[in-house]
Amino acid sequence: MPRSDTPILPADADGMDRAAHILREGGLVALPTETVYGLGADARNDHAVARIFEAKDRPAFNPLIVHVADIASARHLVHWTRVADRLAQAFWPGPLSLVLPLKAGHGLSPLVTADLPTLAIRIPAHAVARALLARFDGPIAAPSANPSGRISPTTVTHVIAGLSGRIDAIIDGGGCTVGLESTIIGLKPQPVLLRPGGVSAETIETALGAPLARPESTDRITAPGQILSHYAPEAPVRLNATHKTAGEVLLGFGPVEADLNLSPGGDLAEAAANLFGHLHRLDATGRPIAVSPIPQTGLGRAINDRLRRAAAPRPT
Ligand code: TXA
Ligand code: MG
Repeated sequence: MPRSDTPILPADADGMDRAAHILREGGLVALPTETVYGLGADARNDHAVARIFEAKDRPAFNPLIVHVADIASARHLVHWTRVADRLAQAFWPGPLSLVLPLKAGHGLSPLVTADLPTLAIRIPAHAVARALLARFDGPIAAPSANPSGRISPTTVTHVIAGLSGRIDAIIDGGGCTVGLESTIIGLKPQPVLLRPGGVSAETIETALGAPLARPESTDRITAPGQILSHYAPEAPVRLNATHKTAGEVLLGFGPVEADLNLSPGGDLAEAAANLFGHLHRLDATGRPIAVSPIPQTGLGRAINDRLRRAAAPRPT
């Protein structure tokens, strides 16, 4: 692990106590979740939430996801619906965020929702995230623990590389098993897929027994995760590459010869878990990155979503 200007806490009882204490004092703690590492703060503390935006250099109009310990806590914050309950029963704890209307008296900092009338909320599955939620005993706002617009972190090393010295602690919980951010479903009240992610749209449709609606242009404005250039390595990215050209490194998928392969056997869950780690490693070579075609089914849709954003023209 590289040297860090931010303390690394072990994921044991002492480490968790320290992390919960830092959160109570309005500090920022990077914590592992099953999707990616999050940058956590007390969601009720304006100053703490403001520091998240500062540390990530995140535009203030981009709202945060709030993490809670249980459905009862979610129901204190948002207007719960039958469809929400169905999805929560099927996928929580896990990589699914639900966007629901905020309830009066929610007590959250308005910075969390960027003043929107809705809140994105989830119960993470990672044991360390759950233990911290239990110890802290309050809602934790946590975007991915990376500088805004860059590749998301799936290891402590990635968090250190992006945010060391800008935050108060990092809990070392090992690698993230899902490797892609949560799927975001808007419920207004019909379910709309706002961001593909760790639970495939097909799996959610099966649980609902009905197709998910695609976002309308108005939904896109409320989901700036839809910002085109995002997850961007330093190097340019070329998609659907069947071979690499001179100077490039190849991020493979399936039985191809590649510098790094997301899944030689063509398994999409394995590819999702490897995606950001492999992008970080290839980016460190300083060479342009070519990427094999990935099937547009199941988790492949979320992988392709991240790759398209990684390849998009960068803001100047
Ligand atoms: O898996 C995850 O979701 C990770 C872990 C840490 O939980 N978090 C994460 O946060 O990916 P972030 O900030 O990188 O992405 C949150 C996304 C953003 O695209 C934001 O625009 C969207 O959620 N979002 C938050 N609140 C929203 C709302 N009220 N309506 C629509 N989109 C919202
Ligand atoms: Mg993010």
